[in-house]
Amino acid sequence: MADKIQNAYESSKNIYDDVLTQGNIFSKLYIKLFWNGTNDNDIAQKVLSYIPNDFSGNLLDVPVGTTVFTEHKWIALKDVHIKCIQGDVSNLKMNDESYDIVVSMNGFHAFPDKKKAFQETWRVLKPGGTFIGCFYIRGKSKRTDWLVNHILSKKGWFTPPFQTEEELRNILKEMYKQIDLHIDGSMVYFCCTK
Ligand SMILES: C[S@@+](CC[C@H](N)C(=O)[O-])C[C@H]1O[C@@H](n2cnc3c(N)ncnc32)[C@H](O)[C@@H]1O
Repeated sequence: MADKIQNAYESSKNIYDDVLTQGNIFSKLYIKLFWNGTNDNDIAQKVLSYIPNDFSGNLLDVPVGTTVFTEHKWIALKDVHIKCIQGDVSNLKMNDESYDIVVSMNGFHAFPDKKKAFQETWRVLKPGGTFIGCFYIRGKSKRTDWLVNHILSKKGWFTPPFQTEEELRNILKEMYKQIDLHIDGSMVYFCCTK
């Protein structure tokens, strides 16, 4: 499973940024047809807006990917030392309660063990810390669900099972408080406090 996911992202690394940022006519068409025009750039901006521009604590971005949406924000943060670590979100090497913010952009629809991923991102977050994320949820659009089930999951870019909005709300409610959650097409973005 891990190899399939790694191969999928490895083989698409040259087109990934263009597709997600709608950098050409084909990706614009793909997003319009299959994602009802939901703009990942806008969602990324919403996610990043949860992080104060003068933030200076410890922040974990998992999965960091190509940093297509995050590079400018991370570079602009003062006093931030950036360290890139390759690893499995289901088994993070970081200590308990070591981060003020954990960000997970477009990760949970790719992670194979979502339960462990929720547990691990929670574990490394300090009490009172902020968990911020966005990812695909099922049940909002038949066309998007079809694409995810028949193409993206087969190739390894997405990995089931996927949550519905209600399922996700229940998971977050068990672990976090002050949940601010929004839906945009088949994508969810949220911010909550441990
Ligand atoms: C859709 S990309 C998102 C990357 C970036 N956050 C973004 O928004 O562009 C999903 C990423 O999750 C990574 N990934 C998949 N399974 C993982 C796991 N078990 N642990 C850590 N990263 C994983 C993939 O390698 C890929 O880089």
